[in-house]
Amino acid sequence: MSTIPTVLPLNSGHEIPVVGLGTYKSSSGEVGEAVKYAIQIGYRHIDCAWMYANEAEIGHVLKEILDEGSIKREDLFIVTKLWNNFHARELVVEKLKESLSLLNLTYIDLYLIHWPMGFKENADPLPNDPSAYTDIDYVETWKGMEECVDQGLAKSIGLSNFNEEQITRYLVLENCRIRPAVNQIEVNPNLNQKDLIGFCKEREIVVTGYCPLGRAAQSQVTPGYPVSTLLDQKVVEMGKKYGKTAAQVVLRYLISLGIAVIPKSVNENRIQENIQIFDFDLDPEDISYLDSRNTGQRIATLVAYKDHKYYPFR
Ligand SMILES: NC(=O)c1ccc[n+]([C@@H]2O[C@H](COP(=O)([O-])OP(=O)(O)OC[C@H]3O[C@@H](n4cnc5c(N)ncnc54)[C@H](OP(=O)(O)O)[C@@H]3O)[C@@H](O)[C@H]2O)c1
Repeated sequence: MSTIPTVLPLNSGHEIPVVGLGTYKSSSGEVGEAVKYAIQIGYRHIDCAWMYANEAEIGHVLKEILDEGSIKREDLFIVTKLWNNFHARELVVEKLKESLSLLNLTYIDLYLIHWPMGFKENADPLPNDPSAYTDIDYVETWKGMEECVDQGLAKSIGLSNFNEEQITRYLVLENCRIRPAVNQIEVNPNLNQKDLIGFCKEREIVVTGYCPLGRAAQSQVTPGYPVSTLLDQKVVEMGKKYGKTAAQVVLRYLISLGIAVIPKSVNENRIQENIQIFDFDLDPEDISYLDSRNTGQRIATLVAYKDHKYYPFR
């Protein structure tokens, strides 16, 4: 069996666990239990964001777990993200402090710029009027991110939803003192992102894949969503051959691309299922089939902001 590591090294000297728990749309009353259960059964990586508005409940559970003592802070890898309204350099440290306070932590393992586009500080977080846009350069925002590391508030810093050209502006123009450790982007069989993953790898940037399950249930009922590969009967049948579910087949396929994945679930069986992906191999013909599903269709487009100067998906 080919062994896939359970952690990936970061250019910051730290390591990111390959499977993490997503928390977007994990609602209040559910997210805390999900995080608690995930950590109990061996998850160490939890993906959060200020924008998900559930950091306080996660923080409550983290405090409980750390106070109890069997898991130490250094065993966990907690990620959070800076939302678009706070791209002004002087707001970055302040907003991380706010997330840390909600999460009951003194430092974050990885802080990400959630999207390259900036909005005015007092605008709606998802504004529907272009007058709310700012053209604050994300390179300026990055200086604030570097200050988070300088102040010991973040172990590693990175990007999310940045394209090749935007990453190049940091690296080639040497606009950064501290290199981005991670780019968190949508990755699933419909959008396998092999080119961007390769580009990031060459620059020692680890990719974390979000929407790895293609939001299976929503993809059936949401107009415009690409249909998740989990619903493909061929993938369901493939799973039976290995004694695995379609979700496990897809997650195994994704981690074999050399990336981390952060499937979201608030259901104990599915949380468990999503991390039991290190004990089987996919046959070459199954990998070829999954490769052939790469239609390039994207779930998380934020297309309403396509006219923003820094919109990444043109
Ligand atoms: N950086 C960004 O801009 C960005 C954007 C989107 C997402 N993210 C992060 O990535 C995480 C994952 O993405 P996502 O939540 O959008 O989508 P996802 O993980 O692809 O799909 C989540 C959906 O799949 C269901 N599910 C979970 N495990 C399953 C399984 N084994 N079999 C069948 N269905 C299963 C979940 O329902 P149950 O909860 O009922 O199990 C939920 O409805 C987010 O939670 C968030 O942390 C980041």
